[in-house]
Amino acid sequence: MRALGRVAWSWLLLLQLAGASHVVYDYENLEVEAAADTVPPSIVDPLLRTGYHFQPLKNWINDPNAPLYYKGWYHLFYQYNPKGAVWGNIVWGHSVSRDLINWVALKPAIEPSIASDKYGCWSGSATTLPDGTPAIMYTGVNRPDVNNQVQNIAYPRNKSDPLLREWVKPTHNPIIVPRGGVNATQFRDPTTAWRHADDGHWRLLIGSVDGAARGVAYVYRSRDFKRWTRARRPLHSADTGMWECPDFYPVSTAGRRVGVETSEAESGSSRQAKYVLKNSLDLRRYDYYTIGTYDRTAERYVPDDPAGDERHLRYDYGNFYASKTFYDPAKRRRILWGWANESDTAADDVAKGWAGIQAIPRTVWLDPSGKQLLQWPIEEVEALRGKSVTLKNRVIKPGQHVEVTGIQTAQADVEVSFEFEVSSLVGAEALDDPALASDAQRLCGARGAAVEGGLGPFGLWVLASANREERTAVFFRVFRPARGGDNPVVLMCTDPCKSSLDPNLYQPTFAGFVDTDISNGKISLRSLIDRSVVESFGAGGKTCILSRVYPSLAIGKNARLYVFNNGKADVKVTRLTAWEMKKPLMNGA
Ligand code: FRU
Repeated sequence: MRALGRVAWSWLLLLQLAGASHVVYDYENLEVEAAADTVPPSIVDPLLRTGYHFQPLKNWINDPNAPLYYKGWYHLFYQYNPKGAVWGNIVWGHSVSRDLINWVALKPAIEPSIASDKYGCWSGSATTLPDGTPAIMYTGVNRPDVNNQVQNIAYPRNKSDPLLREWVKPTHNPIIVPRGGVNATQFRDPTTAWRHADDGHWRLLIGSVDGAARGVAYVYRSRDFKRWTRARRPLHSADTGMWECPDFYPVSTAGRRVGVETSEAESGSSRQAKYVLKNSLDLRRYDYYTIGTYDRTAERYVPDDPAGDERHLRYDYGNFYASKTFYDPAKRRRILWGWANESDTAADDVAKGWAGIQAIPRTVWLDPSGKQLLQWPIEEVEALRGKSVTLKNRVIKPGQHVEVTGIQTAQADVEVSFEFEVSSLVGAEALDDPALASDAQRLCGARGAAVEGGLGPFGLWVLASANREERTAVFFRVFRPARGGDNPVVLMCTDPCKSSLDPNLYQPTFAGFVDTDISNGKISLRSLIDRSVVESFGAGGKTCILSRVYPSLAIGKNARLYVFNNGKADVKVTRLTAWEMKKPLMNGA
């Protein structure tokens, strides 16, 4: 991106303006309910609108679709309602970027236009064919009454256009239809396809649910990318209900951040790669994954942890759904996109005129333990860092808090390293209740930021008002080893119970355990704050939590940042740096 000068961006802006006249922004014809009179004023305040998280100029968005890199440009498509701020009239919005941070909106790439997508162009993925052409496979709804689902394909009209503005749907669509007992109303979201070097055949997955309410990832195979047939058995299934938006990709076991391209893993050199299977649980509205091996002969996936499908390792323990990864050949990394819905009401969204953002893209790679993934905001986001402040070696006594002053923190990137005396682990709380010991969310609900602990809770209060009557706590809490365990248990939590004075807001507590060795007395936290979103990464990206909050006082210049300690042991901030974040180009918003 750094190579892309101002001239190019202005050119792009012009292009965006020129394109705007084609966009079907039919504001006259909003098919949404009228806003309720009771919408609290803070919700519609433009100062609550996110700035550096991906979003279009207006209206509703949900899933990220078919992220890809083509001729120097990153593309993001997304589920988009051009007519309003609630779900409906779904088309594929399309934006392009040189750096995954500055975005320019193009006109929608895929809209209902053929019999097999007449009632909706739902989620899908891109596959780069051997000649470099990207192909998009997506779900079309072809009957309005029952949401009957089939899979379609689209190709770029003009391969020499790096912005891939026009997409053509060949006449052989739909390419996959539900047959042989497949549930036609729950059959969607094709993955990126991969090709086996030995037989030259392509494979892809489609999410579904079987008659016994098991989530299923069906495998479809093709020799020519036109005729697809279902493999006898699914790649995997589990007792979870419908699997939306499956994602299946190799990760390197070399302990490095380097990503692996999906077909490359099949060509020999990367065959040691482990695989990740991610599914979005329609019933529980979160994304969970397992790590395992891919048995190419049987066409089956086997999680390393036999209980993996019950344990539910999640990319993010907060508001993060329908995610999708792609391999970035420019920087040889795998990048994860995920949708963060609002947590206000539909009436609020109509009043605001927008709903939904994408989380900051994250690089994902396998933790050296092989047991989980690590995630970290893509390095490009650091280009938005402006003025900063640093605290060093500051001891926070029990019950104390320290304000971080000198910058505005409504839009900030905060990195903090904590340290405590190893001896204080003895004073950590006990975790005797087995129901809480196995359920981070309940544990955090029972022992929120305001409940004094032994070692912790300590962490950040972000988007806090001057008197701290509003604040969102992002923190750790350490427990003595649970029965039978040797290691202290670390809980990471986002507690927005006090994030707004508005009592009507839905303010769920989010939490996950952090599988980290804390016996050295150290742990780190990073939070990306962007007005109505707080996206946090614990212990270098082992546990992540995204939360949407809507303060009524802690807005704009009134938003403050604190470090707090509500435990019985001292905690030292060895280093905290907070940067103000600049606003990138964001689709004209
Ligand atoms: C996930 C999802 C997908 C579907 C799309 C429709 O959020 O329900 O399964 O394709 O959204 O917008």
